[in-house]
Amino acid sequence: MPSTLIVESGPADGAGAATTICLPMAAGIDGPEPWPGTNDVVESFEAPDPALLARRGFAAKVGDSLVLTSGQDATVVLVGTGVRASADAETWRRAGAAAVRAAGSGSSVAFVLPAAEEEGGTQRNAEAVATGALLAAYRFEEYQRTPKSPGPERLVLLAPGEDEASLDEGIGRARALCAAVVFARDLVNRPPSDLNPRQLADAAIEFLDGAPGVTVEVWDEERIVAERLGGLLGVARGSVQPPRLVRADYVPPDASGEPAHIVLVGKGITFDSGGLSLKTAEGMTTMKTDMSGAAIVLGALGAAAALGVGARVTAIAPITENMPGDAAIKPGDVLITRDGQSIEVLNTDAEGRLVLADGLALAAEMGPTAIIDVATLTGAAVVALGGSIGALFSNDPELRDALEGAGARAGEALWPLPLAEAYRDHIDSDIADMKNMGKPGQAGAIAAALLLERFVGETRWAHLDIAGPARAAESGGYLPKGGTAFSLRALLEYLDTF
Ligand code: BES
Ligand code: MN
Ligand code: ZN
Repeated sequence: MPSTLIVESGPADGAGAATTICLPMAAGIDGPEPWPGTNDVVESFEAPDPALLARRGFAAKVGDSLVLTSGQDATVVLVGTGVRASADAETWRRAGAAAVRAAGSGSSVAFVLPAAEEEGGTQRNAEAVATGALLAAYRFEEYQRTPKSPGPERLVLLAPGEDEASLDEGIGRARALCAAVVFARDLVNRPPSDLNPRQLADAAIEFLDGAPGVTVEVWDEERIVAERLGGLLGVARGSVQPPRLVRADYVPPDASGEPAHIVLVGKGITFDSGGLSLKTAEGMTTMKTDMSGAAIVLGALGAAAALGVGARVTAIAPITENMPGDAAIKPGDVLITRDGQSIEVLNTDAEGRLVLADGLALAAEMGPTAIIDVATLTGAAVVALGGSIGALFSNDPELRDALEGAGARAGEALWPLPLAEAYRDHIDSDIADMKNMGKPGQAGAIAAALLLERFVGETRWAHLDIAGPARAAESGGYLPKGGTAFSLRALLEYLDTF
């Protein structure tokens, strides 16, 4: 079940009904200090002595919180924002998350938002607080008889000096975005036996049904054969579950002239056992996460439609299991992809690039403005960048910079890695156009990216390897343990620039 937290706006003097009141505090020179105007909202509230707060270990760092039990009618929770001058969207997302984590189960929380100096700033901060709160409140409870740790029921944003309609606009954007994140997280967290390729395609249809300007098409196995998607079919051979390919299109309502066309391609391996190049038991435990890319691009398309971005957007998700069944591809087999290139499969566990090769070739045929693929592609990316940063590759410096900026604004760090000329020959094959792995122990994330690059021709393209951050090992901030849908919000930041 998705997060049930209700987020709404309230009148500036509307803290009365709340059981918990959240006041953001900045880190000042003498200790934590309230943001100007915020403590006026709460009648009879006196900002506690900074020295006392410091003694209680509350330094008002971003994400800090302190529950005051001070004989008030409502519990007061102080949430830290760090120094005022450097507060940005991520600060407010983390403050919203801290409020949700500190508030008791079933509580009704009033969050007092200070007036921002810049034009539109308060609305943007409201969107960020709502986003952080909704994402922190996320729980995956489909398989729990009784939910384990219910959070607050309601969060009301109060902003002195800002009208409610303006707050509602920001909150509405947060809701649309978070609905897509929740969709993607739910799919990642669902057990692989309850999310085979058909079920993933069905979930996409259900999520996108009725979205303004959106059409969805699902290719079954027969169609995939007819369309010659040899990479996808090769990987699917080891499984009893037939593959699917989902294509969703969003056309903006009032596009004057030719809008930009962005094609998103997502890796949809509903379970990656490694195939005949079988993973270890340990290595397999998190491999239901391997369809994150598909869930993210389909979720992003839904959010793009809900927010009415100005670009045309297509999402393509090749979906299959990677299993070692009787008919599985064997190391040494050669697959012919959609565009006629041949790939020698030397390791069946390097399956993501095989299905993406077909997805990217399809995308390139559309002649789009740019292609962006999203994939939990390599363990090497996890080694290089760990669990919080995604690897970013691109054949176009402008697109790379735009995505790096979008990631920074979203709080989803994307770090550029090179499509190194020097390593192009790592994927040369003795008998085919290329092989599906590079040199063991060397630049594995780059070798994978270099293979993908061969399927986009001259089209502007970027590749996000999110193998690390697609899953959180521990809960923290607005990322609960499990699927994160990392990069979905960065994609929206990018699409929102059109
Ligand atoms: N899905 C994995 C990558 C992965 C590893 C994601 C760890 C998340 C956490 C991918 O299909 C894979 O197995 N890649 C291999 C490629 C290798 C055999 C060339 C890898 O990275 O080990
Ligand atoms: Mn694999
Ligand atoms: Zn995989």
